[in-house]
Amino acid sequence: MARLKLGVQISGRGSNLQSLIDACRDPGFPAEIVLAVSNVPGAQGLKRAEEAGIPTRVIPHKDFPSREAFDAALNEAHQNAGVDLVCNAGFMRLMTPVMVRPWLGRMINIHPSLLPAFPGIHVHRQVLAAGCLFTGCTVHYMDEGMDTGAIIAQAAVPVLPGDTEDTLGGRVLSFEHKIYPFAVRRIAEGKVRYMEGKAVHEDAPLPALAGLANPAV
Ligand code: GRF
Repeated sequence: MARLKLGVQISGRGSNLQSLIDACRDPGFPAEIVLAVSNVPGAQGLKRAEEAGIPTRVIPHKDFPSREAFDAALNEAHQNAGVDLVCNAGFMRLMTPVMVRPWLGRMINIHPSLLPAFPGIHVHRQVLAAGCLFTGCTVHYMDEGMDTGAIIAQAAVPVLPGDTEDTLGGRVLSFEHKIYPFAVRRIAEGKVRYMEGKAVHEDAPLPALAGLANPAV
């Protein structure tokens, strides 16, 4: 079976990229990474891709006169690499319709909250300030909003007494590393697909994870 070709976009550390790299090492995983793109030269994630033998592109947003021109370069890079699915993994740029429209239903993102709660940045700080007892992470299709778009997979993660942004962020991140490959697998296997702004799930179990108990992940 042909593997789904992933283009991963990063800006920094790249631990979610690493989780996809690790998943793709298994020959039974139905996807492979054909390109890693960073808007930040020297981002740690680029090194992870290089070490895994994945082609990388640095496309610094500062080199472009407008967001649209930058997005056109992103689009071209993925088209040229034969990408089927763009995976944003800590990519810290808002994208315009120039990038979003051609990839509608073929571009996903991971966010460290249970969307639609807490979009944007400083998520764990907001979760703690709000006194939430649960938080989590979400993989979603990307549309033109910020952290909006149909939900593909979620994991619920408890907030524990004494949590700081760091401890909570670390706990959520460990679940991000599980649901991102899980979501990509489901897309590659056709178990979830994008239709008219919605994610259509073909089968049970639904792609949600509570604690570590879901054997499907
Ligand atoms: C993750 O928390 C992700 O959900 C958010 O940015 C962070 C990126 O971390 N969008 P990393 O670069 O994948 O380690």
